[in-house]
Amino acid sequence: MRWRLIKWAAVFIMMCALFILTFWYYQDIVMTNTENGAIIKASSDIAMTVTLTTEITTSPNIAMPVIQTTEMTASFDIGSTADTRMTALKQVPPIHVLINARMRTGSSLTGRYFSKRPDTMFLYEPELTLRYNMSLRYDLFNDSAAQIEDIQTPFYELIGGFFDCEYTRRPELFHFMEGNDWAKSKNGLAHLQGADYNAKQISKKCKTKTHRVVKTVRINDISKGLEILKQYNVKVIQVVRDPRGMINSRIKFENLDSQEKKGLSMKKISEASKNYCIWLNTNINAVLVGPEWLKKNYMIVRYEDLSTKPRQIVPKMYEFVGLPSNDTIIKSERLGTGHTDAWRYSLPFNQTHIAQNNCPDDIFEKLGYVKVQNEIQQRNDSLSLVTSPHISKLISLA
Ligand SMILES: *[C@@H]1O[C@H](CO)[C@@H](O)[C@H](O)[C@H]1NC(C)=O
Ligand SMILES: *[C@@H]1O[C@H](CO)[C@@H](O)[C@H](O)[C@H]1NC(C)=O
Ligand SMILES: *[C@@H]1O[C@H](CO)[C@@H](O)[C@H](O)[C@H]1NC(C)=O
Ligand SMILES: *[C@@H]1O[C@H](CO)[C@@H](O)[C@H](O)[C@H]1NC(C)=O
Ligand SMILES: *[C@@H]1O[C@H](CO)[C@@H](O)[C@H](O)[C@H]1NC(C)=O
Repeated sequence: MRWRLIKWAAVFIMMCALFILTFWYYQDIVMTNTENGAIIKASSDIAMTVTLTTEITTSPNIAMPVIQTTEMTASFDIGSTADTRMTALKQVPPIHVLINARMRTGSSLTGRYFSKRPDTMFLYEPELTLRYNMSLRYDLFNDSAAQIEDIQTPFYELIGGFFDCEYTRRPELFHFMEGNDWAKSKNGLAHLQGADYNAKQISKKCKTKTHRVVKTVRINDISKGLEILKQYNVKVIQVVRDPRGMINSRIKFENLDSQEKKGLSMKKISEASKNYCIWLNTNINAVLVGPEWLKKNYMIVRYEDLSTKPRQIVPKMYEFVGLPSNDTIIKSERLGTGHTDAWRYSLPFNQTHIAQNNCPDDIFEKLGYVKVQNEIQQRNDSLSLVTSPHISKLISLA
């Protein structure tokens, strides 16, 4: 009698054990169900935001997975049970994006298509902060290759910190962002107020995003950053613009044609257009002759296409970096008409001439820009000066 009781008790205990084990096992499967997910363990009893992958599709034309994600907020209450290994949830590895541009080439516009997205963390020209570091002796308006090369090491440290959501890795970055409304708004953080605006909160917010996008206008030669780019598996979008449109915009931005600067303006205009062309040449060739990895992860977008055909171009950029398209954001940019060829009516031909002479024909041809021989051609708007680019393998254009 007692023997039978013990036997039944043993069976009961074994069944319970089996049930508990099955439960744990099942839970682990749920937690690590998707491939290469980092496991997050909830170590506190507060609510945490979790990103779940819902669908992974493959885009046929660029053979790259397009990851569509849905953000979900879940609240986990770790109760009185001693075990806190509950709620290990899977997160998709973040995707890192670098927008490689120059001043007045449309990089801010490109950046806003990312900074406005709820699923993206954005960083605007982090190199701006380096000007406060006296040991670097860095002049913002001098974008000669030699000047910019000098800040590449701290620059890559900054973006590495951002890609890891560690805003304090270099002392300059957060210092600059602190309480600066302009920087807050450029980085899509204007809504964070008071106690919410600090490195810890921003880092936390950063970690909930699927994409981390940095926009810079101060990379000298992309091939020299290859080690870091590969380490973070960065997708690079280079934004280019007609050198004559760029210089026209820069003259206005820096007031280079004002009376008091007249004497200097030609020299500055010449230097700026020369530096811009060196950057175009260096970076385009770095990709054309560079390793397969770079070719695969590099996209070139012309500002002229972006601003005249945003509904075709923006979805291509999103697809390239694995973001779902978002019409609300694409429509939110009101693009002025005639904006891109304003230079044809306002740039004096002698300055057009300088900008053209500072850039080899080869670069114009590769990018599909057409040089003009005289002022009549420049002002004749039935003459199209933006044609098909000749590096179609690199440019994902319509
Ligand atoms: C598109 O972007 C808007 C503005 O940020 C956002 O409110 C909306 O949720 C986004 N839509 C999708 C489908 O992600
Ligand atoms: C910009 O920097 C380069 C290299 O340091 C220097 O040679 C050049 O004179 C500078 N240009 C101006 C306008 O200061
Ligand atoms: C300035 O830059 C140097 C060299 O990159 C770096 O070691 C130093 O920490 C920076 N100083 C500040 C105050 O950020
Ligand atoms: C360039 O052309 C403009 C207008 O045609 C003129 O005012 C200016 O003096 C010229 N500059 C030089 C350096 O020739
Ligand atoms: C403007 O360009 C068009 C197209 O090439 C040409 O037919 C026309 O003659 C040009 N007009 C002038 C005033 O040069």
